[in-house]
Amino acid sequence: MSGTILEMKGICKSFPGVKALQDVDFDLRAGEVHALVGENGAGKSTLMKILSGVYRPDAGEIRLHSKVVSITSPLVAQAHGISIIHQERRLFPALSAAENVFAGRLPRTSAGLVDWERLNRQAKEYLDLLGFQPDVRTPVGELSVANQQLVEIAKALSMNPKIIIMDEPTAPLTDSETEQLFAIIRQLKARHVAVVYISHRLDELRQICDRVTILRDGRRVGHHLVAEVSNSEIVRAMVGREIVERFPKVVAPRGPLVLRVKDLSQKKRLKNISFEIHRGEVVGLAGLVGAGRTELARCLFGVDPFDQGEIEVAGEPRRIRSIQDALKAGIALAVEDRKRQGLVLSMSVRHNVTLASLEKISRLGWLRLGAEQEIVQKQVRDLAVKTPHIDQLVGNLSGGNQQKVVLAKWLAKQFDVLILDEPTIGIDVGSRVELYELINDLAKSGVGILLISSDLPEVLGMSDRILVMREGSLVADLERGEATQELIMQYATGSVDARVERCGR
Ligand SMILES: Nc1ncnc2c1ncn2[C@@H]1O[C@H](COP(=O)(O)OP(=O)(O)OP(=O)(O)O)[C@@H](O)[C@H]1O
Ligand SMILES: [Mg+2]
Repeated sequence: MSGTILEMKGICKSFPGVKALQDVDFDLRAGEVHALVGENGAGKSTLMKILSGVYRPDAGEIRLHSKVVSITSPLVAQAHGISIIHQERRLFPALSAAENVFAGRLPRTSAGLVDWERLNRQAKEYLDLLGFQPDVRTPVGELSVANQQLVEIAKALSMNPKIIIMDEPTAPLTDSETEQLFAIIRQLKARHVAVVYISHRLDELRQICDRVTILRDGRRVGHHLVAEVSNSEIVRAMVGREIVERFPKVVAPRGPLVLRVKDLSQKKRLKNISFEIHRGEVVGLAGLVGAGRTELARCLFGVDPFDQGEIEVAGEPRRIRSIQDALKAGIALAVEDRKRQGLVLSMSVRHNVTLASLEKISRLGWLRLGAEQEIVQKQVRDLAVKTPHIDQLVGNLSGGNQQKVVLAKWLAKQFDVLILDEPTIGIDVGSRVELYELINDLAKSGVGILLISSDLPEVLGMSDRILVMREGSLVADLERGEATQELIMQYATGSVDARVERCGR
């Protein structure tokens, strides 16, 4: 690490009804990775949007190499060598991966035409570094979320920045993609680039960051060398209280069968999946990325067709061929890709929770409109959604709070089976506890819950039973007491034989 290259001093920024930043100081040294942490809505993205020219501060000063600068637009930021990987990916879905990497900077031939050959070659160089597999000519809209994120990262890298801001870069990534990103961050450090790293995953911060700045409610409440501060100190500063119980699991009484899946198969992706969930049970579903967990959830929710298999909800056989079928059967799914699936950013919190894309369905009788206000307010309170009022546009909420709205949307409805697919990605530690308490409450009220998560401590902490999938098959069905991270990983990777006889008892 060497000298300070950036100082932000006394930064203030307000939005209608919200003091997003109050008198915040932040600095960066060449060659450091500086973590920026805080609860959902603490002001992390806002501070970095000011540094990258998206927003202007109301007050405060920014110095680059000791000179006061005024960063009036993203282009000015770029000219100063500052680039940002936005939390909400900002790509053009109809353009190819390569075109997105060099958007606005397409290489030209001497005749002034786009030099496609050079474009694709150069984009591929950056994308290869990140382990990107698809053809670089694929339209971004057709890529998986993880690959879209790699395009966003490649784009930031291709600008050869001196300062690179990564706003929750790993949220959609798998472990191996995360490792590849870390390798790149280490190379950037070696080249004296300064990296700002925003994440809710404190273990990542331990692996890759040198210093940490903590925000709470728009104020800086701590800054430390990572080596000199413990995770519990960071968490306490972030949430302003001690989190005693990370997983406040309450085992609910096990009621009658609520979901029975028998021999469900889908092409090569799902092979004879059979399992059961009882009322009051939280069943964790673990497995490596690609094991088929999301595919299973999509079949159960009628998004994708399956070739064979039976589904019974509350003792009744159900034919599920569409989302409407699933909802009528009492199955709900809150999905992983909240950006694409769940929200209308230009509508209010209230409408996203109640009406939004499910307007017609909710009219089938789940929701009396008179009760709307009450329901929305309860959800906003229970999930601690940080918003000045329920008529705020969802697009103005912080990233994590947008995700809470998607969850709220589902939790506001009545159903027998709730499938949660990676529900806590991007959600801060304090709010996670609130979400877990909601899961407890739902279980207690008799809902059967399928909790899909790559966060093993979360699966272990919150499930009554844990199913493990590998390559499209269920390979284990473990009781709460017997499951450990090691055992789950052994089944997930195939280093021990499947124990299928217990699945679908
Ligand atoms: N354009 C905007 N209009 C109105 N309010 C906004 C706008 N952008 C941010 N805010 C508010 O400013 C506060 C800080 O938001 P910010 O996005 O910086 O949080 P964050 O720390 O990045 O949270 P997360 O972890 O959820 O991403 C929040 O209360 C948010 O609702
Ligand atoms: Mg943010």
